[in-house]
Amino acid sequence: MAIEIEKPIAGLSKMATSDTHGEDSPYFAGWKAYDEDPFDEVHNPSGVIQMGLAENQVSFDLVEKYLEKHTCSGSGVSSFRENALFQDYHGLLSFRKAMASFMEKIRGGRARFDPDRVVITAGATAANELLTFILANPGDALLVPTPYYPGFDRDLRWRTGVQIVPIHCDSSNNFQVTPQALEEAYEEAESKNIKVRGVLITNPSNPLGATIQRCVLEGILEFVTRKNIHLVSDEIYSGSAFCGSEFVSISEVIESRNYMDSERPRVHIVYSLSKDLGLPGFRVGTIYSYNDKVVTTARRMSSFTLISSQTQQLLASMLSDEKFTEDYIKTNRERLRRRYEMIIHGLKSAGIECLKGNAGLFCWMDLSPLLEKPTKECELALWNRILHQVKLNISPGSSCHCSEPGWFRVCFANMSENTLEIALRRIHDFMETKRTKKTY
Ligand SMILES: Cc1ncc(COP(=O)(O)O)c(C=O)c1O
Repeated sequence: MAIEIEKPIAGLSKMATSDTHGEDSPYFAGWKAYDEDPFDEVHNPSGVIQMGLAENQVSFDLVEKYLEKHTCSGSGVSSFRENALFQDYHGLLSFRKAMASFMEKIRGGRARFDPDRVVITAGATAANELLTFILANPGDALLVPTPYYPGFDRDLRWRTGVQIVPIHCDSSNNFQVTPQALEEAYEEAESKNIKVRGVLITNPSNPLGATIQRCVLEGILEFVTRKNIHLVSDEIYSGSAFCGSEFVSISEVIESRNYMDSERPRVHIVYSLSKDLGLPGFRVGTIYSYNDKVVTTARRMSSFTLISSQTQQLLASMLSDEKFTEDYIKTNRERLRRRYEMIIHGLKSAGIECLKGNAGLFCWMDLSPLLEKPTKECELALWNRILHQVKLNISPGSSCHCSEPGWFRVCFANMSENTLEIALRRIHDFMETKRTKKTY
């Protein structure tokens, strides 16, 4: 009888089996815990409340109402044919124009955007990866200020083979980037023989929920110019800056007279409608580059990650409606500010302080006084307790590579006000237990 030798199952690529996607972090583990026991006011009132998801549902009604009123207008057949056949990677001109004009409106008209420089991508995730592919070779590095959005570990590193070298920021100056921190990160990369290709900032910041000051942006521009490297500014939360005048886009800084025309081509902006319009499911993002070669290459590469023509057409008409966009931006900002004040006030009355915020869908909460020791282990033990006992999924600072233990990102725009009140009550009770029992 022939002996059957078991063949090993065909293997997978190094990329497929690499763990640089970073999805084994508590940031994603918290989502899993929520999925297994999701809070529902009626059906599961003791479930986990999801406060680890930066989703904007506060202005959903406005978009929904607009789309209900303005879609299906009788020209269905001809637009079906146009949409079904259109596949040019430049995207619809009407969509690029509407996107450029929306980006200008968000910045209060203080910067201009040329529709011919708008490259369409399936969200900011694709935009950030695509730019990394264009600006850096495998093994090279981007410098990224900490704390940063945990998804960057996947988006910037996994498929590109590029590394992230952290620019360490701390609470002593509200986590703003300093010239010294930039220099130290650069030197750290150099000492390991890693070539630095650029700096990637997020403005307003996720997870800080705060904008970057103009003088800091100028310092970063001065740094990238001196080192002759690129600057990527992820401005996905630009329309969610609820103290509008406090947000300064990198586009405004480079359009100011002080910045030389010849230096602009090192600057690239990432944007998406996932946060400001609350449409992450539509997968709509852009790269806006001041560099002709980057625009051309990004457009070619965007073939892998386009936005469907139907979505472009739908959003082109909505975003070019001046009245709708103006009302939306204003109302959305007011509602986010209200939410922010509600959570900050609730946490304060529970005895918890937060970093002063002015943007985004979350606040940056300081629970360091609760740590037994200022270590990542103690931070994760506290996070675990809050997740499984208090039943709130918040994101520990260590998942955002924060170098100071005890900070947590808490999202407030992905739920109803009622649910937020319940979450605040749970935190309040938790803090009360601590005060009375003095233990955790
Ligand atoms: C800073 C930042 N960049 C990019 C993304 C990804 O956004 P998108 O849904 O457009 O891919 C997020 C999502 O949370 C983010 O916070």
